[in-house]
Amino acid sequence: MNIVVISCSLDLLSRSYVLARQAVDDLEKMGVDVRLYDLREYKLPLSDIDSARQTPAAETLEAAISEACAIIMAVPIYNFYANAAAKNLVELVGGAWNNKLVGFMCVAGGRSSYMAVMSLANSLMLDFRCLIVPRFVYATGDDFENDRTEEMSIGSDDVRARVTELAETTVRLAQAIESADIG
Ligand SMILES: Cc1cc2nc3c(=O)[nH]c(=O)nc-3n(C[C@H](O)[C@H](O)[C@H](O)COP(=O)(O)O)c2cc1C
Repeated sequence: MNIVVISCSLDLLSRSYVLARQAVDDLEKMGVDVRLYDLREYKLPLSDIDSARQTPAAETLEAAISEACAIIMAVPIYNFYANAAAKNLVELVGGAWNNKLVGFMCVAGGRSSYMAVMSLANSLMLDFRCLIVPRFVYATGDDFENDRTEEMSIGSDDVRARVTELAETTVRLAQAIESADIG
């Protein structure tokens, strides 16, 4: 089973990247073939700018998403939505998302944006027939120790447990989809 974790923040001291790292660690402990894609390392052009889809960065992400059984997105919340980099990735490699199992881990500044990821989830369901993992991680700055430093880590036991639950549920659902041949 091959699961891809995509860290969508472009912030050098990203909190959601810390969640992405924990999800990767959890999946590795479960024996899953997992790979982390950190969008800070890929110069993804904006969708529909000339030949955007033919750039090496877009082709790499497209192949990774196409070949994955499941994708877990670590997403910063900007303006009550997933950040533009996450949305751009969906626009850019659209068809690669077809029929994928997708999980979400979000980090926001406050508690009020907890439903902000749903518009992205809805569009993945409606446009690409994605199945959304019915476990969500939502964290804020208070959930991190040494917040916004190189030593930043998850300080909340609850958030750590929710990341693990998301990873476990994603694996179970991916196995069920594989055996039912409905992916
Ligand atoms: C342009 C911008 C818009 C934001 N909009 C929201 C928002 O709508 N709701 C919210 O709770 N936090 C908002 N935030 C705070 C971010 O969600 C917060 O900084 C989070 O840690 C970002 O994730 P990251 O650290 O992984 O980049 C915003 C931050 C920026 C820079």
